[in-house]
Amino acid sequence: MKIFIDSANIDEIREVAGWGILDGCTTNPSLVSKTGRPFRDCIADILGIVDGPVSVEAVSTDAPGMVKEGEDWARLDPDKVTVKVPMCIEGLKAIKSLSGKGIKTNCTLVFSQTQALLAARAGATFISPFVGRLDDISHQGMDLVSDIVDLIESYDMEAEVIAASIRHPLHVVESARIGAHIATIPYKVLVQMTRHPLTDIGIERFQADYNKIPKPR
Ligand code: G3P
Repeated sequence: MKIFIDSANIDEIREVAGWGILDGCTTNPSLVSKTGRPFRDCIADILGIVDGPVSVEAVSTDAPGMVKEGEDWARLDPDKVTVKVPMCIEGLKAIKSLSGKGIKTNCTLVFSQTQALLAARAGATFISPFVGRLDDISHQGMDLVSDIVDLIESYDMEAEVIAASIRHPLHVVESARIGAHIATIPYKVLVQMTRHPLTDIGIERFQADYNKIPKPR
């Protein structure tokens, strides 16, 4: 399973890129707004750091507007820019048009298998079911990811499924278990994934024992 960071914070993205495990980045207007920076500056910086797809949300409400935004973003970096398009009828039209122009798309805010099927048929590069937001309303978010992965794979469709709205490390474990192609993970969860108390105790003990070894004069 590939690992994307779900963030628009340059410091977080730069740090995780330095770990050598980062395959891409997803952003949304809420994440960009948290940075307090202009949208374009933020995305340009991310494109300079991440070696892989970078999802940028289109905010127009009609297909021509989404396509225009997508074309503008793609000019920044045609290989990396992935236009994030919300799941709706106008969004499907925009995905069809952008994919016909060779621009990558990520169909976002997907909450059902029918939505995922339509996004895949329209030519979406990525499909993003939101796990945490379903869990928030007492639905099993991960079951939806699993059903969408099965659907895409049983018809050999090209879209890759991104487990999105990840809230904790167990969401990542489950995403990998059910065969999600990608998980997009917030910085805090990525850090949590590195930690284990026995690792900390082990490192401490090895350091202490190393210090007891007589050093050559
Ligand atoms: O990738 C989608 C993500 O940014 C939404 O996460 O936690 O706002 O549901 P959340």
